[in-house]
Amino acid sequence: MYYEPGVTPHGLPHDPFKSCVIPRPIGWISTVDRQGRHNLAPFSQFQNVTFDPPIVMFSANQNSDGARKDSVRNAEQTGEFVWNMATWAQREAVNVSAEELPHGVDEFERAGLAKLPSRRVKPMRVAGSPIQFECVYLNTLRFPGTPPMGSADVVFGRVVGVHIDDDALDANGLVDVLKIRPIARMGYYDYTAVDNVFRMVIPGNNAALLAGLEGSADKTQQATGGAA
Ligand SMILES: Cc1cc2nc3c(=O)[nH]c(=O)nc-3n(C[C@H](O)[C@H](O)[C@H](O)COP(=O)(O)O)c2cc1C
Repeated sequence: MYYEPGVTPHGLPHDPFKSCVIPRPIGWISTVDRQGRHNLAPFSQFQNVTFDPPIVMFSANQNSDGARKDSVRNAEQTGEFVWNMATWAQREAVNVSAEELPHGVDEFERAGLAKLPSRRVKPMRVAGSPIQFECVYLNTLRFPGTPPMGSADVVFGRVVGVHIDDDALDANGLVDVLKIRPIARMGYYDYTAVDNVFRMVIPGNNAALLAGLEGSADKTQQATGGAA
């Protein structure tokens, strides 16, 4: 089949677009508003966009009433947000935190989640989530779309702090993805959880390219002669 979005009918029971871009990692984003009230919500339109310096983005479609999402407003107004990794163990809490609630309602409390303080930013971290990024807001790209929910606010932030639970690292210092089982969004109401891994190395000896994929050595240590 072939269709042109918004121009020709797809003829399917549900728009297949989001079911084609899968699996999408979940940006479980915590923020505070100007009054210091806590907010937490999942965004599957989430990614790292570069890694040196590390920058992430989440994309929030406007609410069904056309209002901008709390996560966007808070990040813009306070200049900070935290990304929490969403795992199989906390899948129900992820879902509960997605409910559209009045501004100021604390989804941590709603989902029965404990808060952990951050070091560089005010938004709290989700206790039990194995990895969190503390982020400083950079900018927002706004894409006008088809009402009521098509418009999107794409929020970018620089990662200034990375927390990894020691239990989430294996004996070789690698993130133990099979242990932590991140969840990811598929289409419809479907999700997946990481339960297998396979390896491939790009052919050739382009060290810079391979380091970009594997993750480079610790530049902080290099800069200080290994003393850091
Ligand atoms: C797993 C999951 C992924 C979601 N991804 C998105 C997304 O990418 N963009 C979006 O606008 N809403 C997404 N939602 C819905 C938001 O989480 C929901 O609108 C939430 O109430 C927004 O909260 P806020 O207004 O406090 O920011 C998602 C919901 C779930 C359960």
